[in-house]
Amino acid sequence: MHELKLDLAPMSPPRRFAATCDSTPTETDSSPESAAVSTSFAEPFAVVGNAALYHADCLDWMAAQPLASIQGVVTDPPYGLVEYSPSQQEKLRNGRGGVWRLPPSFDGHRRAPVPRFTTLGRDDLDRLSCFFSRWTAALMPVLVPGAHVLVASNPLVSHLVANAICMAGLERRGEVVRLVMTMRGGDRPKNAHHEFPDVTVMPRSGWEPWLLFRKPLDGRVQDNLRIWGTGGLRRHSPERPFADVIKSAPTQPAERQLAPHPSLKPQSFLREVVRAVLPLGEGTVLDPFAGSGSTLAAAEWLGYRSIGVESDMTYADMAVSAIKRLRDYEVPSSSASSR
Ligand SMILES: C[S@@+](CC[C@H](N)C(=O)[O-])C[C@H]1O[C@@H](n2cnc3c(N)ncnc32)[C@H](O)[C@@H]1O
Repeated sequence: MHELKLDLAPMSPPRRFAATCDSTPTETDSSPESAAVSTSFAEPFAVVGNAALYHADCLDWMAAQPLASIQGVVTDPPYGLVEYSPSQQEKLRNGRGGVWRLPPSFDGHRRAPVPRFTTLGRDDLDRLSCFFSRWTAALMPVLVPGAHVLVASNPLVSHLVANAICMAGLERRGEVVRLVMTMRGGDRPKNAHHEFPDVTVMPRSGWEPWLLFRKPLDGRVQDNLRIWGTGGLRRHSPERPFADVIKSAPTQPAERQLAPHPSLKPQSFLREVVRAVLPLGEGTVLDPFAGSGSTLAAAEWLGYRSIGVESDMTYADMAVSAIKRLRDYEVPSSSASSR
């Protein structure tokens, strides 16, 4: 998830939450590449160790899966829904126009592009809510009872995403705070820097919310653990439970070279959270928005089984080599994770 600016008129009339969830996909909806994506899920696009990658729209893919076949989910969806549409991706790849921009370089280093959303209006926000309702409805049958679902978000839209997911049946289990210094916020008013030198429009953001949910249990936690192997989170050690604040450096240039996806999340963080979603270390972790396969790489590093789904062929291709490279990437010792 990336930088988002909301431009909501303060006096706009109140609207009902998530008006009508139209099931017809639009370009800004869930299925940016659905026309081009194979609907046969018999064979994965690639297999790397215990990781299987599918080139598909995740909504279609989930609809074709066996019931109760996934024990945990860690994923980083496209929150604006437009930035990964084919037309916006073409603009990004051509380096011209669209919602993607290069943030200013203060230290001489070229920064990774981030999507710019100058306006996300009420209709966009309704579409976002609808998308996550449909997404959760498709995910629910695939999960075993007690499966944890961790979804990367952004402080500006996380309330909508969380509400839509809960309304569709998952229980909210809090948030994991990824403490990371971002380039979001902290600016003075646009075109009035000199007039208001002591004002910042939004706080400089130093964290990223990862929303945590669980499919309702089958009995008590202990029953669910015995039957399904899920229901809790894996501890770091007998003395140290999994905790909901994780210090994290921004994704490092060395890691970006291994997987040049514009929304690459770092292995140091992913290894911790992927480890936690399988409380007994058994089962399969799903990433329905796999991108470069970074969640699958973390699962590989941990020795977990994993499945990724990616709708964009360029990123699916990238993931095939990136999963191995990210799996073998040695994170700097200060942020190393335990297996
Ligand atoms: C925010 S990126 C995830 C990047 C990932 N965190 C990484 O480290 O590489 C979201 C990804 O979801 C893909 N995507 C968007 N809509 C999708 C859909 N309906 N089904 C499957 N993948 C989708 C996009 O092409 C994009 O690569």
